[in-house]
Amino acid sequence: MKDGFYITSMMDENSSETTKKERITGANQVRADKDIENVLRPKTMEGYIGQEKVKENLAVSIAAAKMRNDALDHVLLYGPAGLGKTTLAHIIANTLGSNIKIASGPAIEKAGDLAAIISNLGEHDVLFIDEIHRLNRNIEEILYSAMEDFVIDLVNGKGPAASVITVPLAKFTLIGATTKAGMLSSPLRDRFGIICRLETYSVAELTEIVERAAKMLGSSIEQKAAEEVAKRSRGTPRIANRLLKRVRDYAIVRGHEEIQLSDAKGALSLLEIDELGLDIIDKGLLQSLAEKFNGGPVGLETLAATINEDAGTIEDVYEPYLMQLGFVVRTPRGRMLAKKGYEHLGIKMPEKNREQLSFLEKENEN
Ligand SMILES: Nc1ncnc2c1ncn2[C@@H]1O[C@H](COP(=O)(O)OP(=O)(O)O)[C@@H](O)[C@H]1O
Ligand SMILES: [Mg+2]
Repeated sequence: MKDGFYITSMMDENSSETTKKERITGANQVRADKDIENVLRPKTMEGYIGQEKVKENLAVSIAAAKMRNDALDHVLLYGPAGLGKTTLAHIIANTLGSNIKIASGPAIEKAGDLAAIISNLGEHDVLFIDEIHRLNRNIEEILYSAMEDFVIDLVNGKGPAASVITVPLAKFTLIGATTKAGMLSSPLRDRFGIICRLETYSVAELTEIVERAAKMLGSSIEQKAAEEVAKRSRGTPRIANRLLKRVRDYAIVRGHEEIQLSDAKGALSLLEIDELGLDIIDKGLLQSLAEKFNGGPVGLETLAATINEDAGTIEDVYEPYLMQLGFVVRTPRGRMLAKKGYEHLGIKMPEKNREQLSFLEKENEN
């Protein structure tokens, strides 16, 4: 495997494994992204490209909150990694003209820690909790009364002599972000007045994001080159920005002042990212489905073992994009390679697979 393929020795910001390798086409944030992301993050709604419905909804609620001189309702932002949840949380606070405190679900270890954060919030402040689905249940419970009635119950003392005091809080806005809305408990989910689902971005939107990012990095880029990066970014701004960085370096080495289409193509083929943003692991998965399992259906565990990945990673990281492309289908009997997947590999889909897939898809509907 080529060295350039992984962002070596960088780890997922929330992972404790130092050996974990992150794919360049992976949407999770790695350390190398952090500095550049803070530079590239748009600060205003105007600079935040795409997500028109979400922006419209938020604009109305924010304007109303300001007119009533009230705190904004609690906001839940959900959607896959790298689509702009953290960015949007900052923009919301910025538009409100409020302070923002930042916390992360897995980093809050004790109920007392969260209680301390919340009781220190000022009137109309924003508390952003990233990965809110990873809060411990017993810690999460503090949020119920805090979000609904703006109070928390603190236990004073220990054992039989302990007493509970109810402490009033400032009226604040909680913004929760999650990649797994389904993992939120319903009492928590029900307390968000505004729920926004972020969608993957179109090529046109990503092209704009890449052009804007290039400018902020002090480079200029041909429209065609920006579009090439956009096409291979799996609908995800974080990946687009990361690829742009590699493409820019490639252009610099080739002595180009403006990043050209040939730089984009050259850099991306060096990284073995194809015209749809698939890397060699995606391709290995498709190939294995086609060749080792005759197109499936094959169980997740078996497939995982064949390509030497764990089942959870395939399910959360690889499959969603392959399914979105219509290359892979989940059936009740396992994963199958669809017609488009075969086409991408340049193999004709066997007739018997076609029949079986349409049969299983019907079974799925019933
Ligand atoms: N709508 C957008 N317009 C422009 N850039 C964006 C947009 N959404 C995300 N980005 C860029 O992508 C990067 C990752 O976004 P982030 O908010 O950290 O994603 P998430 O929190 O959903 O994982 C940011 O640094 C930002 O530069
Ligand atoms: Mg984030």
